Amino acid sequence: MMVHLYYDSRTGNVQRFIDKVIQITGWQAHKIDEGLEIHEAGHLITYTTKIGSMPDKTKLFMDDHAEKIYSVTSSGNRNWGRNFGLAADKVSEDYDIPLAMKFELSGTMEDINQFIDIIKNQYNDSKRGSKKLDIA
Ligand SMILES: Cc1cc2nc3c(=O)[nH]c(=O)nc-3n(C[C@H](O)[C@H](O)[C@H](O)COP(=O)(O)O)c2cc1C
Repeated sequence: MMVHLYYDSRTGNVQRFIDKVIQITGWQAHKIDEGLEIHEAGHLITYTTKIGSMPDKTKLFMDDHAEKIYSVTSSGNRNWGRNFGLAADKVSEDYDIPLAMKFELSGTMEDINQFIDIIKNQYNDSKRGSKKLDIA
Protein backbone atom coordinates (compact mmCIF):
# COMPACT_ATOMS: atom_id res chain seq x y z
CA MET A 1 0.00 0.00 0.00
CA MET A 2 1.33 3.46 -0.93
CA VAL A 3 1.90 5.95 1.87
CA HIS A 4 1.15 9.58 1.02
CA LEU A 5 2.95 12.50 2.68
CA TYR A 6 1.60 16.06 2.51
CA TYR A 7 4.24 18.63 3.42
CA ASP A 8 4.78 22.35 3.86
CA SER A 9 8.26 23.89 3.63
CA ARG A 10 9.43 27.46 3.28
CA THR A 11 13.22 27.47 3.60
CA GLY A 12 13.81 23.87 2.46
CA ASN A 13 14.39 21.93 5.69
CA VAL A 14 11.17 19.93 5.52
CA GLN A 15 11.78 19.47 1.79
CA ARG A 16 15.20 17.90 2.50
CA PHE A 17 13.71 15.66 5.20
CA ILE A 18 10.98 14.49 2.82
CA ASP A 19 13.48 13.92 0.00
CA LYS A 20 15.44 11.54 2.25
CA VAL A 21 12.31 9.73 3.44
CA ILE A 22 11.04 9.11 -0.08
CA GLN A 23 14.49 8.06 -1.27
CA ILE A 24 14.49 5.34 1.39
CA THR A 25 10.83 4.28 1.22
CA GLY A 26 9.51 5.12 -2.24
CA TRP A 27 6.52 6.77 -0.58
CA GLN A 28 4.70 9.54 -2.42
CA ALA A 29 5.15 13.17 -1.37
CA HIS A 30 2.87 16.09 -2.23
CA LYS A 31 3.88 19.69 -1.55
CA ILE A 32 1.06 21.70 -0.03
CA ASP A 33 -0.03 24.55 -2.22
CA GLU A 34 -3.24 26.47 -2.66
CA GLY A 35 -5.74 24.30 -4.49
CA LEU A 36 -3.87 21.01 -3.96
CA GLU A 37 -6.47 18.31 -4.42
CA ILE A 38 -6.10 15.32 -2.21
CA HIS A 39 -7.54 11.97 -3.18
CA GLU A 40 -5.67 9.73 -0.77
CA ALA A 41 -5.42 9.92 2.98
CA GLY A 42 -1.93 10.51 4.33
CA HIS A 43 0.33 12.21 6.85
CA LEU A 44 1.13 15.91 7.36
CA ILE A 45 4.68 17.20 7.81
CA THR A 46 5.05 20.92 8.46
CA TYR A 47 7.31 23.40 10.28
CA THR A 48 6.87 25.78 13.20
CA THR A 49 6.90 29.52 12.67
CA LYS A 50 6.13 32.82 14.45
CA ILE A 51 6.45 31.82 18.09
CA GLY A 52 5.05 28.33 18.01
CA SER A 53 2.48 28.66 15.20
CA MET A 54 1.62 26.51 12.23
CA PRO A 55 2.22 28.16 8.83
CA ASP A 56 -0.79 29.82 7.15
CA LYS A 57 -0.60 27.41 4.22
CA THR A 58 -0.73 24.46 6.59
CA LYS A 59 -3.78 25.93 8.32
CA LEU A 60 -5.64 26.50 5.05
CA PHE A 61 -4.78 22.96 3.95
CA MET A 62 -5.94 21.44 7.23
CA ASP A 63 -9.17 23.48 7.27
CA ASP A 64 -10.08 21.68 4.05
CA HIS A 65 -8.50 18.25 4.47
CA ALA A 66 -8.08 17.38 8.14
CA GLU A 67 -10.36 14.36 7.80
CA LYS A 68 -7.85 12.78 5.41
CA ILE A 69 -4.81 13.27 7.67
CA TYR A 70 -3.63 10.43 9.90
CA SER A 71 -0.85 12.19 11.83
CA VAL A 72 1.16 15.41 12.14
CA THR A 73 4.92 15.94 12.35
CA SER A 74 6.74 19.27 12.67
CA SER A 75 10.22 20.54 12.00
CA GLY A 76 11.52 23.19 14.36
CA ASN A 77 14.62 24.43 16.06
CA ARG A 78 15.46 23.78 19.72
CA ASN A 79 16.75 27.36 19.99
CA TRP A 80 13.06 28.25 20.34
CA GLY A 81 12.92 26.49 23.69
CA ARG A 82 9.40 25.68 24.82
CA ASN A 83 8.08 26.66 21.40
CA PHE A 84 10.10 23.88 19.78
CA GLY A 85 8.02 22.17 17.12
CA LEU A 86 4.85 23.57 18.64
CA ALA A 87 3.03 23.56 15.29
CA ALA A 88 2.67 19.79 15.73
CA ASP A 89 0.87 20.28 19.07
CA LYS A 90 -1.32 23.02 17.58
CA VAL A 91 -2.39 20.92 14.61
CA SER A 92 -2.91 17.90 16.84
CA GLU A 93 -5.18 19.86 19.21
CA ASP A 94 -7.04 21.98 16.65
CA TYR A 95 -7.89 19.08 14.33
CA ASP A 96 -7.76 16.15 16.74
CA ILE A 97 -4.98 14.33 14.90
CA PRO A 98 -2.27 12.20 16.49
CA LEU A 99 1.15 13.83 16.87
CA ALA A 100 3.72 11.60 15.20
CA MET A 101 7.00 13.42 16.00
CA LYS A 102 9.08 16.60 16.02
CA PHE A 103 12.54 16.99 14.53
CA GLU A 104 15.11 19.76 14.20
CA LEU A 105 15.73 21.48 10.87
CA SER A 106 16.03 18.80 8.14
CA GLY A 107 16.39 15.96 10.66
CA THR A 108 19.22 13.53 11.42
CA MET A 109 19.41 10.03 9.95
CA GLU A 110 18.05 8.82 13.29
CA ASP A 111 15.07 11.18 13.00
CA ILE A 112 14.38 9.95 9.49
CA ASN A 113 14.45 6.30 10.52
CA GLN A 114 12.28 7.02 13.54
CA PHE A 115 9.75 8.86 11.39
CA ILE A 116 9.58 5.95 8.94
CA ASP A 117 9.00 3.50 11.80
CA ILE A 118 6.27 5.63 13.33
CA ILE A 119 4.46 6.10 10.03
CA LYS A 120 4.64 2.39 9.24
CA ASN A 121 3.13 1.56 12.62
CA GLN A 122 0.55 4.32 12.41
CA TYR A 123 -0.43 3.17 8.95
CA ASN A 124 -1.05 -0.35 10.22
CA ASP A 125 -2.88 1.04 13.24
CA SER A 126 -5.11 3.20 11.10
CA LYS A 127 -6.00 0.18 8.98
CA ARG A 128 -7.16 -1.47 12.17
CA GLY A 129 -9.19 1.63 12.96
CA SER A 130 -7.05 2.90 15.83
CA LYS A 131 -5.77 6.47 15.97
CA LYS A 132 -3.24 5.79 18.68
CA LEU A 133 0.40 6.78 18.40
CA ASP A 134 2.81 6.11 21.19
CA ILE A 135 5.66 8.46 20.35
CA ALA A 136 5.49 12.25 20.53
C1 LIG B 1 10.45 33.61 11.79
C2 LIG B 1 10.74 32.21 12.27
C3 LIG B 1 10.11 31.75 13.41
C4 LIG B 1 10.35 30.45 13.89
N1 LIG B 1 9.72 30.03 15.03
C5 LIG B 1 9.96 28.79 15.49
C6 LIG B 1 9.32 28.32 16.67
O1 LIG B 1 8.53 29.01 17.32
N2 LIG B 1 9.59 27.06 17.09
C7 LIG B 1 10.45 26.22 16.42
O2 LIG B 1 10.64 25.08 16.84
N3 LIG B 1 11.09 26.66 15.29
C8 LIG B 1 10.86 27.90 14.82
N4 LIG B 1 11.50 28.32 13.68
C9 LIG B 1 12.43 27.39 12.99
C10 LIG B 1 11.79 26.65 11.82
O3 LIG B 1 10.66 25.90 12.24
C11 LIG B 1 12.83 25.67 11.23
O4 LIG B 1 13.90 26.40 10.70
C12 LIG B 1 12.23 24.75 10.17
O5 LIG B 1 13.19 23.75 9.87
C13 LIG B 1 11.84 25.48 8.90
O6 LIG B 1 11.34 24.56 7.96
P1 LIG B 1 11.46 24.84 6.38
O7 LIG B 1 12.94 25.07 6.09
O8 LIG B 1 10.98 23.59 5.72
O9 LIG B 1 10.64 26.04 6.04
C14 LIG B 1 11.26 29.60 13.20
C15 LIG B 1 11.89 30.07 12.04
C16 LIG B 1 11.64 31.35 11.57
C17 LIG B 1 12.35 31.84 10.33
